[in-house]
Amino acid sequence: MTTIRLVPLAEEHEHALLETMRDPDVLRFTRTPDPMPAGWVHEYVERFRTEDRGGWAILDGEEFVGYAVTGPIDRDGLEVELGYAVSPWARGRGIATETLRQLTQWAFDEGMKRVVAMISVDNPASSRVARKAGYTFEGVLRSMHHRGDLREDLESWSILPGELPAPHPPS
Ligand SMILES: CC(C)(COP(=O)(O)OP(=O)(O)OC[C@H]1O[C@@H](n2cnc3c(N)ncnc32)[C@H](O)[C@@H]1OP(=O)(O)O)[C@@H](O)C(=O)NCCC(=O)NCCS
Repeated sequence: MTTIRLVPLAEEHEHALLETMRDPDVLRFTRTPDPMPAGWVHEYVERFRTEDRGGWAILDGEEFVGYAVTGPIDRDGLEVELGYAVSPWARGRGIATETLRQLTQWAFDEGMKRVVAMISVDNPASSRVARKAGYTFEGVLRSMHHRGDLREDLESWSILPGELPAPHPPS
């Protein structure tokens, strides 16, 4: 089992966060602006302090291996969208799946009744992560606004309370 921990994003993570966000797949599949304006990463980290949304660094020991975020948390409708990216140097070890599992548990602990992941139809690795974390594929939303002028067909995946699989025991 992958042992990672999630800690709130902070200034100390900005360098590794920038390195991760420069990865072509992160630029392709997240809302990170491309090109990234100077100072953008610092503002990005700051917004999690001022808005009702979560942002975490994923750490393996002391090493930064990715980040995870929520969209705006709907405290009335009890719904939230989760997003994640793993640093290129740490992929293929189950880190995204364990991150999504931990964050989904966090969302249910916050009282959420529906947790969502929106995934590009061209991102099978992320679809696989959602499936492994217990999410259900609901269908494809066509031509969703992604960022700037870009629109994307997005798979909608969701999970409801009681559907989260137990973590695998250490082998
Ligand atoms: C998608 C991403 C988060 C996956 O992170 P990760 O830590 O490598 O994911 P995991 O190791 O938990 O699981 C990846 C799974 O996808 C599978 N996979 C990888 N590439 C694949 C591909 N091209 N097609 C199908 N499956 C693929 C892996 O085999 C693994 O499944 P398995 O355990 O059944 O073998 C990472 O590649 C990433 O950060 N990409 C860029 C940002 C991004 O896309 N974020 C998600 C936005 S919705």
